[in-house]
Amino acid sequence: MTHDRAALDALLTEKRRFAPPPEFAAAAVVSDPAVYERAEDFEAFWAGWAEELDWFRKWDTVLEWNPPHARWFDGGKLNVCHNCIDRHLDGPRRDRPALLWEGEPGDRRTFTYAELAQQVGRFANVLRDLGVKKGDRVAIYLPMIPEAAFAMLACARIGAPHSVVFGGFSPDSLADRINDADARVLITADGGHRRGTIVPLKANADRAVARCPGIEHVVVVARGGLDPVDMVAGRDHWYHDLADGVDGDCPAEVMDAEDILYILYTSGTTGKPKGVVHTTGGYLTQVHATTKTVFDLKDDDIYWCTADVGWVTGHSYIVYGPLAAGATVVMYEGAPDWPDKGRFWKMCQDYGVTVFYTAPTAIRAFMQWGEEWPGGYDLGRLRLLGTVGEPINPEAWMWYHRVIGKESCPIVDTWWQTETGGIMITPLPGITRTRPGSACRAFPGIETTLLNDAGETVDAGYLAITRPWPSMLRTIWGDDQRYRETYWSKWDGVYFPGDGAKIDEDGYLWILGRVDDVLNVAGHRIGTMEVESALVEHPAVAEAAVVGKTHAVKGQAIAAFVTLMGGREGDEALTAELKAHVASAIGPIARPEAILFAADLPKTRSGKIMRRLLGDIAAGRALGDTTTLADPAVVQSLKDRYEAKEG
Ligand code: PRX
Repeated sequence: MTHDRAALDALLTEKRRFAPPPEFAAAAVVSDPAVYERAEDFEAFWAGWAEELDWFRKWDTVLEWNPPHARWFDGGKLNVCHNCIDRHLDGPRRDRPALLWEGEPGDRRTFTYAELAQQVGRFANVLRDLGVKKGDRVAIYLPMIPEAAFAMLACARIGAPHSVVFGGFSPDSLADRINDADARVLITADGGHRRGTIVPLKANADRAVARCPGIEHVVVVARGGLDPVDMVAGRDHWYHDLADGVDGDCPAEVMDAEDILYILYTSGTTGKPKGVVHTTGGYLTQVHATTKTVFDLKDDDIYWCTADVGWVTGHSYIVYGPLAAGATVVMYEGAPDWPDKGRFWKMCQDYGVTVFYTAPTAIRAFMQWGEEWPGGYDLGRLRLLGTVGEPINPEAWMWYHRVIGKESCPIVDTWWQTETGGIMITPLPGITRTRPGSACRAFPGIETTLLNDAGETVDAGYLAITRPWPSMLRTIWGDDQRYRETYWSKWDGVYFPGDGAKIDEDGYLWILGRVDDVLNVAGHRIGTMEVESALVEHPAVAEAAVVGKTHAVKGQAIAAFVTLMGGREGDEALTAELKAHVASAIGPIARPEAILFAADLPKTRSGKIMRRLLGDIAAGRALGDTTTLADPAVVQSLKDRYEAKEG
């Protein structure tokens, strides 16, 4: 577990509780604690939320559960894009802003719901004109520009599952994802702005597509102003050329509730990322319900989630949830410290942001940058704050509460995963007395418990989800066996998320971090095996073992232990080369923070690398049990060398 000690300390000493401000509670979307009991009939609870959506045909059954496969709202027919846009067009939302977008250089674009409808309809027609049909997969590799949302919604409109790949991923990572999903079309941009430079997305895409025989068309959005851009005749098209004169009206495809909405790749414990499959009716129901209630969204809110659409948070809480709720969504292209460290707070002030959702790693960076940055702006319209992606330490929670929330904004610490599709554990801001560092309790309708390996209920152990939920993943794309093994094989009919947790005397949950070989670096999920595979691809490397080490801002950073080929000596130059190699193989988010060259790695007598001991070394902890090692001296000498190098 990654944050075990900090969280345990917090648990033992954290007595502070924060009740919702009375005026907040009085006006909250959910103000009656009885919601939890009422949701005990969870099928009826979720069906109530599904009723809020527009269905072309109502469902026959709320839930069919043949563990581990669930079908929600079977027989129902709807379209996600229609629910996010069309159904808002008949009322006052029509002319309200749906998207308030700002580019990193400061350029702005605003779209009302009526304008969004035209943009998305046109994009959908462009895809149809390229021959994209219901069921075809479309890969999206874009910066945080409005077209990223348009493209996703356009895919949803025509029933083509999208696979969004974060723009920070390397060409190889993009190619692997395109090939696994067998996508026919790739949507990218010439480049996007990030910290004052242009990320060359089209050049990366070209390197990827060279390895992707299934790609027929590459659609390129002009954003970065890059000139010239290599365009392959017949394959590559500028979006503005394709869209020229194309109609903005495009009928929405009638989709079954269980048709696939999207595939999103995430890291697991093997080297190969998993294509998490989300479907239509249940997914939209849960993201809609949680957006409305957890973020307490009202029509006059200005809502800003700072995630990237390349991650699940962007899917569920920038695009689908907020737009289904008819919200006004702020979207930002660039870095939080560009042109200076006040950028987010300036945007909160300029747009009058009322609900703000970000990651603990960002909050810890803000703390380090100093209070004067937020202090320089008027944050007076903020009324609710949220966090997601990793455990938040109480110190960061308190800073967020005091400096950003001025002690008057509830904080919702939301636990969930790519696989869960929507928020699962969270305060409800109008009723929960929050505690810094705790995600509090399961959302109504969701049932969690803590179990040990034997499946017995415990106060500290593995987090487990004991009922199906509407936005749950349905399978791993192309690998249902892996779906069963990864999530459903630990206990019978119970979902295993891979996190450890504790429950306190009030029944509050304290998430402690991953219990598997998945790291959480600055809120990004990275599998240790992915980094190891990248390292051993380098000709100098014989063997590599990767562990997480505690990092003050990122939560975790990557530490790699490496043995070299043929007695080669490691030096500074090779360290830099290996770091760069991993960054280019996977993406900059996977760059190791520390690399230690070793003559040998600690192994059991059967030859298995003992990562646990390497974790102890990287964390500066006393070494755990070393009696099963083939050669205990190896680990002590590594520890000495690591401490000499990293302090
Ligand atoms: O370990 C948990 C951590 O992030 C993991 C899921 O990562 P990902 O699929 O990338 O989705 C992140 C955004 C939903 C979880 O297994 N995690 C997420 N939220 C929290 C968290 N850990 C503690 N507290 C949270 N609020």
